[in-house]
Amino acid sequence: MDGGWREIERGAIVTAGEAAERAPRLFGIPTGVEGLDDLFFVTRIEKGTPTRVPLGGLPSRAVINITGVPDTGKSLIAEQFAVKQASLGYPVAFVTVESPATFVTQGLMQRAAAMGVNWEEIENNIVLIDAASNTRLREDVDVLLDTLAYAIRAFDTKSVVIDSITGLFESREMLARNVVRRIFNFLKKWGQTGIFISQKRSTQEEESAEAAGGYAVSHIVDGTIVLHKRLIMKPWEEETFGVPIGDVLRTIRIDGMRLCGHDTRTHVMEITEEGLVKVGPPLSEIVKRRG
Ligand SMILES: Nc1ncnc2c1ncn2[C@@H]1O[C@H](COP(=O)(O)OP(=O)(O)OP(=O)(O)O)[C@@H](O)[C@H]1O
Ligand SMILES: [Mg+2]
Repeated sequence: MDGGWREIERGAIVTAGEAAERAPRLFGIPTGVEGLDDLFFVTRIEKGTPTRVPLGGLPSRAVINITGVPDTGKSLIAEQFAVKQASLGYPVAFVTVESPATFVTQGLMQRAAAMGVNWEEIENNIVLIDAASNTRLREDVDVLLDTLAYAIRAFDTKSVVIDSITGLFESREMLARNVVRRIFNFLKKWGQTGIFISQKRSTQEEESAEAAGGYAVSHIVDGTIVLHKRLIMKPWEEETFGVPIGDVLRTIRIDGMRLCGHDTRTHVMEITEEGLVKVGPPLSEIVKRRG
C-alpha cells in the first residue's frame, strides 16, 4: 500500500519484546567511594517474596549526574571512580574540562595512594582527554564526540567521566539541553557507564539537583547524586547534627535513578584528610541518636 508517507525511520520502531531481548544485563559498577555502592539495589522475587538485592555499585551503563556547589567533593568522587575502575582492569576515559590533564593526574595519583592502589598498575587504564587546554574540544561537541569515540575504541574503555559537563556550555546555556542530550545518546550507543559532574551555582536552591544550565542535565540523565555542604553557625545546628560551630556538615543524596532501586535518604558524607570521600549513615539516624 502506498500511504504517501516519506522518510520513515523504520529502525526507531521496535516492539517492547524486541527491546527487552536487546537490553543489557544489569550489574553494579563499583565507585571507589566507601558506603556509596551499597545504596543501589534491585528487587527480585525470591520464594514468592520481593527481596532487595544490593547492586554493589552504580547501575551498569547508566549515565549519572553528580552535582553540587564548589568544594563539595565532586571531583574527588570522579577521581575515586576512575581509580577504582582502572584498578579492576576496566579502562576509563576521563574528559577534563576544568583543570588541565597534568593537574588531574596529580589528583588521580593522590587518590590512588589513599585508596591503596598501585599507580603503575592503573596509569595506562585511565585515558585523559584534555578539554581544559583545548578550545575546540570544549566548544564543538562534534569534535569532542569524535575524539571520545576514538579513545573508546583505541583503549576499549567501559566508562566515561566528564568533569564538568557544565563547563561544555559555559555562558551558552541555551545549548545545554542539546549538548547533554547528544553526549548522553553517544554514551548509550557506545555502551559506556557515564559520570557527568555538574556545577551548581550557590544561588540555585541549595539541596536541589538543579545545575547550571537549568534542568537540562538532571532531566536527561538516568540519575542524579546531589552533594551539599552546610556551614554550622548556630547552637541549635551544633546540637542537632553534632557538628561543632564553624565546621562543615557534608551530605550526599541520590536524587532519582531510573535503572534500579536506591536509598532515598540524605546521608552524611566525609572528606578524609587524605582526600577521600566516604559516605556515612543517614542524617536522620544521627539526629535520632542525639535525640
Ligand atoms: N587531601 C585532600 N586532597 C584534596 N582535597 C581535599 C583533601 N582533604 C580535604 N579536601 C577537601 O576536598 C575539597 C575537594 O573538593 P573537590 O575538588 O572534589 O570539589 P568540587 O566539588 O569538584 O568543586 P568545584 O565545583 O570547585 O570543582 C577540597 O577543596 C578540600 O576542601
Ligand atoms: Mg571539581
